[in-house]
Order: sequence, then structure tokens, then C-alpha cells
Amino acid sequence: MKFGIICISDRCYRGECEDKSGVSIAECVKEICNESVYRLVPDVQIKIAKALCELADDEKCDVVFTTGGTGFAPRDVTPEATRAVIEKEVPGISEAIRAKSLEITERAMLSRAVSGIRGKTLIINLPGSPKAVRESIEVVLPVLPHAVETLSGNTQNCGGNYGK
Ligand code: MTE
Repeated sequence: MKFGIICISDRCYRGECEDKSGVSIAECVKEICNESVYRLVPDVQIKIAKALCELADDEKCDVVFTTGGTGFAPRDVTPEATRAVIEKEVPGISEAIRAKSLEITERAMLSRAVSGIRGKTLIINLPGSPKAVRESIEVVLPVLPHAVETLSGNTQNCGGNYGK
């Protein structure tokens, strides 16, 4: 699987701190990752949207994870940028992450993260801290191979009642 990782942070972009969350994502997916592409962008909707489109359309990533910018801060616009570029929303992924995260911290309800599909790329917003990244990503990892296989057009392992 080819992964895109986008760190969305004004402070990291200005070089005032290191992106530890992007590193966490890379560590979490290393077992199933053949190739990865990384971008660091500030909390600017158009720049986030452009990075998402590049990783989906040009780099043809199977899955793009974003980290940061999903909360209530005035400059948090990751969900808005994501909604602007996805063709189909996948609410179940973000719902599952929030549900599992709520067992760990009630602050999970403050994440406005969304997930969706652009072309053959699955885009998933994650919160901004390395801890939140690890807690969130472990919820979705088990379904990624099937999600990517289905997105690529192979529906053989989809189950369901079709044709039975
Ligand atoms: N989800 C998990 N699993 N663990 C966390 O520690 N932190 C929350 C939430 N989701 C958290 C979490 C907090 S404190 C915030 S403000 C929101 O994610 C949004 O984070 P972001 O603005 O960095 O994206």
C-alpha cells in the first residue's frame, strides 16, 4: 500500500517544532506500507486541499492520513479542506475513531475529523498529537487492506448476499 502523510501545523511549518505526529503515523503503518509520501503544510484551507489533491491524483496514494487541525482553534480547517476535495464521505471511519477514542478521553468529541474518498484514494483526518494519532490509527488499520482492495475495483472479498 502507498501512504500519504500530511502534517497540518502552522508551528511545524514555521520550523518552531518538530512533526512527531507524522512520524507516529509512519511507524503505525510500517508493516503494511510499501511506499510513502510526506507533506508539511500550514493551517490554510487551500494549501491543505492542494496537498490532498496532489497525493490522491498525482501520487496515487491508496490512503492519505492527515494529522492536526481538526479541533476548535480559529485556524483549524482540516475537515473543511477535506470536505472540499472528497467525492464521497465515509462517516463510519471517523465515527469509529471517535467512539473508541471517547473510551480514552472525553476530549475526543472535540475532534471534527472527517474521512472520505477521492478517486481511488481514501483520506482520513487524524487529530494532531502523536498519542491521539496512535490511538486513532489502530482503530482503522484492520480495515485498510479491504478498503483499499475494494476501492481499486476488486469486490471479490466483499461478502454480502449478492448472487446468493
Ligand atoms: N483522540 C484521541 N484518541 N486521543 C486524544 O488525546 N485529543 C482530542 C481529540 N481527539 C485526543 C483525541 C483533543 S484534546 C482535541 S482538541 C481534538 O482531538 C482535536 O485535535 P487537533 O486540533 O490537534 O486535530
